[in-house]
Amino acid sequence: MDRIITLDEFIIKRQRDFPYATGELTSLLRDIGVAAKIINREVNKAGLVNILGVEGSSNVSGDDVQKLDIYANEKLIECLKNSGECAAIASEEDQDIVLLPGIESKEAKYLVAFDPLDGSSNIDVNVSVGTIFGIYRRQGDLNEEVTADDFLQKGDALVAAGYVLYGTSTILVYTTGRGVNGFTLDPSIGEFCLSHRDIKIPERGNYYSVNQGYYLKFDVEMRRYIDYCSDMNYRLRYIGSMVSDIHRIMFQGGIFLYPNTRKFPQGKLRLLYECNPMSMIVEQAGGKSVNCQLQRILDTELHELHQRSTIAVGSPAMVDDMVEFVQKYSAITAHPGKN
Ligand code: AHG
Ligand code: MN
Ligand code: MN
Repeated sequence: MDRIITLDEFIIKRQRDFPYATGELTSLLRDIGVAAKIINREVNKAGLVNILGVEGSSNVSGDDVQKLDIYANEKLIECLKNSGECAAIASEEDQDIVLLPGIESKEAKYLVAFDPLDGSSNIDVNVSVGTIFGIYRRQGDLNEEVTADDFLQKGDALVAAGYVLYGTSTILVYTTGRGVNGFTLDPSIGEFCLSHRDIKIPERGNYYSVNQGYYLKFDVEMRRYIDYCSDMNYRLRYIGSMVSDIHRIMFQGGIFLYPNTRKFPQGKLRLLYECNPMSMIVEQAGGKSVNCQLQRILDTELHELHQRSTIAVGSPAMVDDMVEFVQKYSAITAHPGKN
């Protein structure tokens, strides 16, 4: 049996591979690992809500019971304050950025963006949820106060990205731009242990993942592409948490789509803390990620913190097929006589 390698051990070992690394990113990743364990503990208790108290009430210890996404948000912020390496946070749960002041963080070089709980509607029914994070380096003068504009970097500028899936087991998957590794939480020792080394997404797979209930609200070329997926006998899977849906695709291959709808003309998912980190991970595993304008997600300009985006992400050959399909279909409808 191979020796167990914990997340902390792995992160430190990887740091030594970067000759000029100073350990800041290492501390940050470890902080996120700690937050993930705390969130995991609470997610596992979610089924006991009727015993421990529902949101808005007090629990048996007299503490206020919070919504789990608010709880996850607070824990991530608390943990990131620890090392003093994170200057500011952008979160799905906060309209504005959160500054992390303090002597240690004064010259902190990093900015962290996250979706503390992804797929939160799944919580009440005991279905998988996740956490997504992306780490950016601060640009400009480190003595100046961070502003929201500092977060408006393209996804290509991410120095690290990861997700945690609270599923049948809890797994943390992350990349610092040199491949993707997965660590499964061993509850008996309370450690994330390396379980999936150098993850590579299959070239193709049998799954497509889209909210097919919105079919009539998608653009016609997307509807035709979904018909094509069905004609190809791809299996439809949709959990309602992009972390869970993309995690399946990372291992079994497939394509995840969240196109524009009438309700969400720009798409629903957020670029900064959903699409960009997940796209970096998928690309690092050999996959592809584009929006419905067929532009690479990681090249997209960011104009506001909570900017939405469409997304098509997954196995490289399947994303290529989708792009080719949409291009051909659009050409036919633009010049019907020529084809
Ligand atoms: P969140 O719980 O962070 O708001 O994210 C949910 C997101 C995403 O993870 C999922 O794929 C999608 O919303 C589901 O949306 P629909 O219910 O519109 O399909
Ligand atoms: Mn989300
Ligand atoms: Mn969320």
